[in-house]
Amino acid sequence: KKMTTMESLIGLVNRIQRACTALGDYGGGDQAFSSLWDALPSVAVVGGQSSGKSSVLESIVGRDFLPRGSGIVTRRPLVLQLHKTEEGQQEYAEFGHMQRRRFTDFALVRKEISDETDRITGKTKQISPVPIHLSIYSPNVVNLTLIDLPGLTKVAVEGQPESIVQDIETMVRSYVEKPNCIILAISPANQDIATSDAIKLAREVDPSGDRTFGVLTKLDLMDKGTNALDVLEGRSYRLQHPWVGIVNRSQSDINKNVDMIIARRKEREYFATSPDYGHLASKMGSEYLAKLLSRHLESVIRARIPSITSLINKSIDELESEMDHLGRPIAVDAGAQLYTILELCRAFDRIFKEHLEGGRPGGDR
Ligand code: GDP
Ligand code: NA
Ligand code: MG
Repeated sequence: KKMTTMESLIGLVNRIQRACTALGDYGGGDQAFSSLWDALPSVAVVGGQSSGKSSVLESIVGRDFLPRGSGIVTRRPLVLQLHKTEEGQQEYAEFGHMQRRRFTDFALVRKEISDETDRITGKTKQISPVPIHLSIYSPNVVNLTLIDLPGLTKVAVEGQPESIVQDIETMVRSYVEKPNCIILAISPANQDIATSDAIKLAREVDPSGDRTFGVLTKLDLMDKGTNALDVLEGRSYRLQHPWVGIVNRSQSDINKNVDMIIARRKEREYFATSPDYGHLASKMGSEYLAKLLSRHLESVIRARIPSITSLINKSIDELESEMDHLGRPIAVDAGAQLYTILELCRAFDRIFKEHLEGGRPGGDR
């Protein structure tokens, strides 16, 4: 199946973002492109520790590759870019700090995330705001930038400085306060929604609820005889977008290496056969959440395409003058990155002009 025009444009924008990040790493003109980066939406997960953030991201991607578990496992932001490739291509991952290595074994991706976290923070319970950049190329993903973040906490534990509670909140806030950040606010169903850190922060940075998606995890862990219908049907806390209930893998599933396909099937069965949630089954679960998000993202990007295009045209000018200066000594890699960005920007501009400008938005849909 050929990609649609929207898919190609979003894919290009994704690649431009990635190339800009790489250029930033060489100390190149990152300033010039930060506005371009900010123009594009991303999705960040927010919630208390062990609420299931990393698990939800894995389900959206449909792959096992994130360190998960009890306590503070995610200790640096992970900026995860999903790139949709043509059908039949092999799936692989690439890190920003290790660009020449292609990972096809996702267990090794998980190990590298842990190792790279430790490289900056030491084998401690400390956190660092320095993000890890990871790209996944696959025919089975939608073009999306997802950000996994450390969980909000209320107290420092042994080995952590007192300031950690505030440090984590500041770090999380720096992502979710951006107007283009879509917030996946994760709350566990086995805790009172009124105490949800995710909802509290989301409400502060997005009072209208335009860009907040409420996700309720751990439905399977609720006390017998209780259910989460008040939350899922929007009576406890109303959001603009519908709440989505999720059943992720339990710790014992993780220990037993229950794979993603089986986990998704179990989740589907859980909703389909649930006396409480059966009537909502088609609007619950990780697969539905992934679809909901990509639909939302597509409409956001569609609305922003004109402003992205004008930014890109501005960037082309900047890049061309930057390329003119390449006579002076400049890192070879930085020069190559600039060239890549320029090519990608031109491609975006060309596709936009051919398919969308002045014509039918949505092109070949
Ligand atoms: P994070 O700290 O918010 O990133 O949470 P993780 O994704 O690391 O999950 C924390 C723990 O909760 C892990 O042991 C998961 O297996 C478990 N967990 C997460 N979601 C669910 C769920 O929906 N049901 C069950 N039974 N366990 C879950
Ligand atoms: Na955790
Ligand atoms: Mg986590």
